[in-house]
Amino acid sequence: MSEPQLKVLLDPDWETGSLVDDVRRGLLSHPRTLPPRWLYDDRGSALFDQITRLPEYYPFLAERSILEQHAADIAAASGATTLVELGSGTSEKTRLLLDAFTAKGQLTRFTPVDVSEGTLREAAARIAAAYPGVEVVGLVGDFTLHLGHLPSGGRRMVAFLGGTIGNLYREERAAFLGALADLLEPGDSFLLGTDLVKSADRLIAAYDDSAGVTEAFIRNALTVVNRELGADFDQSAFSYVPFWDPHMERMDLRLRAEVPQRVRLPGAGLELDLAMGEELRVEISTKFRPERLAAELEAAGLGVAQAWTDDAGDFALTLATKG
Ligand code: SAH
Ligand code: TRP
Repeated sequence: MSEPQLKVLLDPDWETGSLVDDVRRGLLSHPRTLPPRWLYDDRGSALFDQITRLPEYYPFLAERSILEQHAADIAAASGATTLVELGSGTSEKTRLLLDAFTAKGQLTRFTPVDVSEGTLREAAARIAAAYPGVEVVGLVGDFTLHLGHLPSGGRRMVAFLGGTIGNLYREERAAFLGALADLLEPGDSFLLGTDLVKSADRLIAAYDDSAGVTEAFIRNALTVVNRELGADFDQSAFSYVPFWDPHMERMDLRLRAEVPQRVRLPGAGLELDLAMGEELRVEISTKFRPERLAAELEAAGLGVAQAWTDDAGDFALTLATKG
């Protein structure tokens, strides 16, 4: 069995250092926010894995069905020898790509990139065992900071699945896409998974599932901050409020203080007075329209080569190249 390599780009102080910065910045802005990157500790990653199995959570199934139908087309169009995956998580759906790429016999290297070290370690080991001919080099890093460390040489395809780009704000997306476009060479490609605008009912059902798994995932933000920063957020004083913002065309996932309260966060040197009804935004999940997505890619210097949707038109995979 070939052993995966893992390179850790986050230094040991990074976690506490940037958590403090993120929490201070977020909790002092309006509306107050809690930074979503911190949702993925071991418990958060396990909850996310459960989300992908919920019957209401159509994005996972929709994206998987596109990959089932078109992975071979994607492999043919990209011709990549290295597959990079950003925010790779368990890389479960990615196996459909790995199957198609290895069937063509050109793939030599797979580089999953994730901030969640435990999840990445396990996923890299499983992939290395299942694809012995592929060198697996995982990067524990932040895709908003560490794109400069992606492997060079060969022909690369960078996959960014799961609609994760929709969890970034518009300015963050522009910065991310610009940085990515800068490092792509002629012949490289970018495969982007995005959830599409649809009826508010279906969107709300997907983010407010009856088993309460998504709520537990969002609430985990408070658990992480309590643990890492010695804060005293009281879970029972908050309710989960997911809503569709039709103007921004995004889901907005918040926690609302049901009673006025003072919260202490000694690790961040903060004390907050929350009014009754005050909301903390934990995550956004932007939904796209194909034309608008193409325009965002173009603004970053990327052109749409091909795009696919599932039969219901719920989700899109877009293959883009530079220029
Ligand atoms: N691609 C998988 C997982 C999506 S969940 C799928 O489609 O199912 C989002 C993943 O991105 C999580 O594994 C999380 O740990 C990771 N992630 C979130 N923010 C990140 C960041 N800034 N840099 C790197 N990884 C990040
Ligand atoms: N990117 C996916 C989405 O927006 C997964 C995800 C990220 C998610 N954060 C979430 C799902 C919070 C549910 C709740 O759908």
